[in-house]
Amino acid sequence: MRVFQGGKRLPLRSRITGTGSYAPENVLTNFDLEKKVDTSDEWITERTGIKERRIARDTETTSDLCLEASKKALQAAHLKPGEIELIIVATMSGDMPMPSTASLLQKKLHAKNAAAFDLNAACSGFLYGLSVADNFIKGGTFRKILLVGAEVMSKFIDWQDRSTCVLFGDGAGAVILEKTTGQRGILSTRLFSDGNLWDFICLPGGGSQYPPSSKTLKNKLHFIKMKGNETFKIAVRTLEKLVVDTLRKNNIKLSELAMLIPHQANLRIIKATAERLNLPMSKVAVNLERYGNTSSASIPIALDEVVRKGRIKKNDYVLLEAFGAGLTWASALIRW
Ligand code: UT7
Repeated sequence: MRVFQGGKRLPLRSRITGTGSYAPENVLTNFDLEKKVDTSDEWITERTGIKERRIARDTETTSDLCLEASKKALQAAHLKPGEIELIIVATMSGDMPMPSTASLLQKKLHAKNAAAFDLNAACSGFLYGLSVADNFIKGGTFRKILLVGAEVMSKFIDWQDRSTCVLFGDGAGAVILEKTTGQRGILSTRLFSDGNLWDFICLPGGGSQYPPSSKTLKNKLHFIKMKGNETFKIAVRTLEKLVVDTLRKNNIKLSELAMLIPHQANLRIIKATAERLNLPMSKVAVNLERYGNTSSASIPIALDEVVRKGRIKKNDYVLLEAFGAGLTWASALIRW
């Protein structure tokens, strides 16, 4: 759909008009983890870059985190909850399998005019959600969308498994997308998946394959499993190609990119990708030392931080990229 102005065709786009984020108050440091499992601050810092992560209270749910992040995003966009037409929550750790966390958020937010659904593409979930929201807006179905990436990973982690429990954290990031015309906004989204590698990162229990039972509990199937090293190698290769291809498809040079906002899984992945691209780390958003890997929440939290710190300006080219369970990977190019 296109809009005409002065005889010129202006592309109809979606634009992020507000961002917000929230992380639980409780901080779990590497030193705290040294007391729980056979690990060290030195190992975690060297291998991942993580120093601490936030952990939700027992009573705190994913929709609670969504609510706080969403209120801030709405405030930034100068919108009231009743103006939102669609809520999408990207999550793999929702409050319950049914109803969706988006529906629970709708209730908590009093966003009575919004449709609501969840989307699960694990760590790539926020960018999958951005693509869905962008296409709903470009197609004319909705004009104002609230998209949240939120996880309470801590409740799905085996706290006796040192290979996973040091990696993840809890948090939420939200954006408001609105209809716009002109050069600014979401320029492109690209989504990919390879289900053959589903068992690289998975949480096998609790679904129709292994419904909850004393056996699934005993075998710890309700916890996240990861083939970390194998995932690491594919992630670096895939992300470099993803960034190069996204820029090429949009005729943007790497030197024109103001900021790369990667999924925050591992500082070594982020640095290796930047090195392969020859992109200075000053142009890469990194906050995983404070949050760990918050899966679908990591990109919108990092985006909110760079926006609030004024690190990206009007008309800047910003590239977001993610890689995670599925396997899935995705990118989004934005003219801010
Ligand atoms: O968000 C979705 C996408 N996720 C990712 O992209 C994650 C990708 N993977 C990674 O970030 C890294 O592979 C990890 C941080 C998970 C692991 O780092 P690594 O350098 O690949 O280590 P490794 O799994 O090869 O393990 C090396 C050693 C092993 O000991 P041995 O067998 O060499 O004696 C592990 O048992 O480190 C040991 N180890 C630990 N030692 C201390 C594993 N976890 C720990 C730990 N503390 N927490």
